[in-house]
Amino acid sequence: MRDLRVESVDMTYQLPKGGSVQALKDVSFDLDGGRLLTLLGPSGCGKTTLLNILAGFLAPTSGTVLLGDEPITGPGPDRGMVFQQGALFEWLNVRKNISFGPRMQRVPRGEIERTVDELLATVGLRDFGDKKIYELSGGMQQRVALARCLANDPAVILMDEPLGALDALTREKMQGLILRLWKETGKTIVLVTHSVEEALFLGDRLFVMAPRPGRIEYIYDLPFAETGLDVEPRELKASAEFADKREEILSLIWEMEEEIMGHGGA
Ligand SMILES: Nc1ncnc2c1ncn2[C@@H]1O[C@H](COP(=O)(O)OP(=O)(O)OP(=O)(O)O)[C@@H](O)[C@H]1O
Ligand SMILES: [Mg+2]
Repeated sequence: MRDLRVESVDMTYQLPKGGSVQALKDVSFDLDGGRLLTLLGPSGCGKTTLLNILAGFLAPTSGTVLLGDEPITGPGPDRGMVFQQGALFEWLNVRKNISFGPRMQRVPRGEIERTVDELLATVGLRDFGDKKIYELSGGMQQRVALARCLANDPAVILMDEPLGALDALTREKMQGLILRLWKETGKTIVLVTHSVEEALFLGDRLFVMAPRPGRIEYIYDLPFAETGLDVEPRELKASAEFADKREEILSLIWEMEEEIMGHGGA
């Protein structure tokens, strides 16, 4: 199991017309392999930037990121990304979307077919392999995106608001699916969300980030993801322990928003 190690990462974007934006300042953390980290924080606090650095899509201005002993210097099959929506190949059917990575890696055909069958069952789309992407609901599309990511068997799954475009009921079901996949596969997951409830429910570790410059402000180790499959999710979310944490974090975020917007209104 490979740990993620982020050491003193700074990210400054240079703007085309001059000037710069410091998106991340001195971000450091260790994440043991197999943990589920959720990132929460106001818009612009650098969540997507951090995820893109972990994916290797962006190189930090300074600092290092390691997966196990290997520095992350670019994208690689050991890290998979799931976006909010729209990142599937619309012109390919479900099966071809899921098998895309293994086909690129020239995995033998029989093995690919077996993997795809397994993944279709895992994400509850057994009868949908031949459907086109546009024939699926938003929730189904996100299940395809998850399956496509899993087909590469990455050590780390990075998700940027993967459930953000879904209706409340579908979203709740998908949270259950993500928890189940996490437990079954033992993969490391880093998931960005705008929902305090989702960050609490899914994260066995939670970072609350703050903006200007983007940084990790609070770190929580949480019990809910561990119990989330054994208890009825609605019951868990209604528990006093969950509600207390939700209020605590909501007020942290409110304070940050107030600082950003300025006191007393403008
Ligand atoms: N390509 C870019 N060029 C210049 N500035 C950027 C670029 N990408 C992001 N930024 C700036 O960096 C900061 C962090 O952006 P980022 O997208 O990481 O925030 P975020 O936490 O994901 O926000 P949101 O919740 O709205 O998705 C913001 O101030 C943003 O304007
Ligand atoms: Mg973002």
